[in-house]
Amino acid sequence: MPEHKRLRNLVSSAFTPKMINGMRDRIQEIADELLDEMEGKERVDLIDEFAFPLPIIVICEILGIPAEDRDNFRIWSNAMIEGSGGDYAGDIGQHMQAFVEYLGKRFAMLREHPADDLISRLIIAEEEGDRLTEQELYGVVSLLIIAGHETTVNLISNGVMTLLQHPDQLKLLKEQPDLIKKAVEEILRFEGPVEFSTSRWAGEDLEFKGQLMKKGDLVIIILNSADHDPEKFDDPEVFDITRKKSVHLAFGFGIHTCLGAPLARLEGEIAISSFFNRFPESRLGTAPDELEWRPGMIVRGVKELPVIL
Ligand code: HEM
Repeated sequence: MPEHKRLRNLVSSAFTPKMINGMRDRIQEIADELLDEMEGKERVDLIDEFAFPLPIIVICEILGIPAEDRDNFRIWSNAMIEGSGGDYAGDIGQHMQAFVEYLGKRFAMLREHPADDLISRLIIAEEEGDRLTEQELYGVVSLLIIAGHETTVNLISNGVMTLLQHPDQLKLLKEQPDLIKKAVEEILRFEGPVEFSTSRWAGEDLEFKGQLMKKGDLVIIILNSADHDPEKFDDPEVFDITRKKSVHLAFGFGIHTCLGAPLARLEGEIAISSFFNRFPESRLGTAPDELEWRPGMIVRGVKELPVIL
């Protein structure tokens, strides 16, 4: 799929493990500032105060979106991802229009005065030849904004929620902080933030587990189901941060595998370990069965995560 490869190559230079590792100190600084603001409070919605702003600030800084515009992005991106079941259901068309208009103005501004950010680099690439059309520029930037807004927030909040619900595992993590990398992998497997892979189509007639798929049939992979497959994982319903090598599908697979995975992993590691370092006695502020999950079939996470600090 050459078109896809061309677009992916243009963006991927900003997301290599080396580039991402260079952002470690800045991500830590953002996490620390957000945690400072929570000091002295007894009860917070962890999503509002921490899990949501952290990845947003990071992706907006990568793209070059000014801090004061971030709140609008939350509304626009939520409207698009939650669709007709969400809080902004009635205004989806209006929000999408506002989003596209905002991007148009921003692109025009950066065309005149390019800055040192990813949108400017993509615009320059567009102008240097036929590498990125105007339409593709909208597509790529929207995809990054939405991916940056809607996924890592759930990694952080699902992670804190799951650890608070498994005190033995949280205790282990506090005793052995180096387990954080493995803990993030297990959170991704156990409570993966994205429900479905991107669409695939059967390349040939095939039978899978008694189900016939005809060449050309749409195949949607439910990632969380695959990640709880007892043929693949021992005791899949056990949350175990010491699990041996865990080849989960939370970031998808193959040519579409998540481009932001190194960034998401780093943000997850820093956010979750910094939160428990700062508030080691925190606990869930509600009964687990009262947590309300977000509507829609794309991302998996709760609407609010009340935590007593
Ligand atoms: C925990 C956080 C994240 C999860 C669980 C996640 C998961 C996924 C999944 C499941 C896919 C589809 C893979 C497939 O169909 O095989 C995907 C694609 C993608 N993700 Fe992520 N993602 C996360 C964070 C991010 C971030 C932070 C970015 C960038 C800022 C990002 C950018 C992308 C892009 C650009 C694609 C499309 C890749 C392609 O089609 O070639 N993701 N992601």
